[in-house]
Amino acid sequence: MLVEKNASLQSANSFGIAARARELVRLHSEAAVQEAAAHFDLARQPFFVLGGGSNIVLTGDVEPLVLKVEIPGMALVEETARHWIVQAGAGVDWHAFVAWTLQQGWPGLENLALIPGTVGAAPVQNIGAYGVELQDRFHSLSAVDCLTGQAFALDAAQCAFGYRDSVFKHAAPVAGQGAGWQRGMGLAGRALITSVRLALPKAWRPELEYLDLQRKREEAGIAQPDARRIFDWVCQIRQAKLPDPAVLGNAGSFFKNPAVTPEQCRDIIAREPKIVHYPMPDGSIKLAAGWLIDACGWRGKTVGRAGVYEKQALVLVNRGDRHSPDTSVTGGEVMTLAKAIQTSVYERFGILLQPEPVVV
Ligand code: EPU
Repeated sequence: MLVEKNASLQSANSFGIAARARELVRLHSEAAVQEAAAHFDLARQPFFVLGGGSNIVLTGDVEPLVLKVEIPGMALVEETARHWIVQAGAGVDWHAFVAWTLQQGWPGLENLALIPGTVGAAPVQNIGAYGVELQDRFHSLSAVDCLTGQAFALDAAQCAFGYRDSVFKHAAPVAGQGAGWQRGMGLAGRALITSVRLALPKAWRPELEYLDLQRKREEAGIAQPDARRIFDWVCQIRQAKLPDPAVLGNAGSFFKNPAVTPEQCRDIIAREPKIVHYPMPDGSIKLAAGWLIDACGWRGKTVGRAGVYEKQALVLVNRGDRHSPDTSVTGGEVMTLAKAIQTSVYERFGILLQPEPVVV
């Protein structure tokens, strides 16, 4: 297998942080993943799985072996009375996959347009936007257990999806202790997702609950938009609000929206009547982290070469040159800014924001 030594990761992470991988291997098929598991003895050697790099903060060079997932392919694998089951390789660009399904005439992913990253990374944090989460369209996925080289499949329940969460974000049990794919067991640092299958509904209905989409519908005067139209609206909304990582490095939302109990929420509202909050189906209340950060005066601020995006306080950006190894932001600068934001939000609201990206 071809091992790249001292490989630059600057263009492989959406922040544009200039870290290097001591060793990097590109994997183009499930068989190659299995071969790598045996060849590098991944049960003993530490490794790090890299997809599109759009949800990570690299705080230094990566010592573990980097497995860069580049598995291609998009196909209709099954058609049932109610669904089109479509599959994509883990290395496919998520947005390209969304656009392709719509071109084929299969709606269902339009609200998830323009989310950066790869198909293989989508289930890891159960990506979501504008009222739709990956789990709402999920069918199953294939993965390889890097510790044993065994390929296996998981359905939605086995992935244990939650808000920006799944079994892939939780630590794995000790090697050799039971089957890794049982529900509730962590697969982080163990499973490498090779392909994902989605079930796109034939009885499609538009999901237009989000205020931003309702505004678009009113502006356009279209009562019954089709999926292509919603795709265009979502692209427009995201382009207006979120920085393009190819130009201004970032990792999307930097913090999760915190959930509080109704009692906690009443308490906060008594002090901060304008706080943006949404009731959740499970009875908890979600607070808009962007609002909390904005209320603490962070929007548009810069510390070192890390900044808070001026149009959306939830997004931290690279104020250095994302293409330069010398003047780009460092992971340390990003984390210093993130910690300062956490501290000020905690001091004012008593809420500890949790970072969304994986800090490496
Ligand atoms: N707000 C402010 N100031 C700000 C930013 C936001 O007051 O600087 C307020 C907004 O006015 C709005 C509320 O906060 O009332 C929520 O903001 P927005 O609608 O932009 O959504 P969000 O909660 O910030 C979430 C996801 C995004 C997803 C959008 C749309 C998380 C952590 N983020 O953002 O996902 O695109 O909803 O569904 O759940 C991502 O995960 O990387 C991501 C971009």
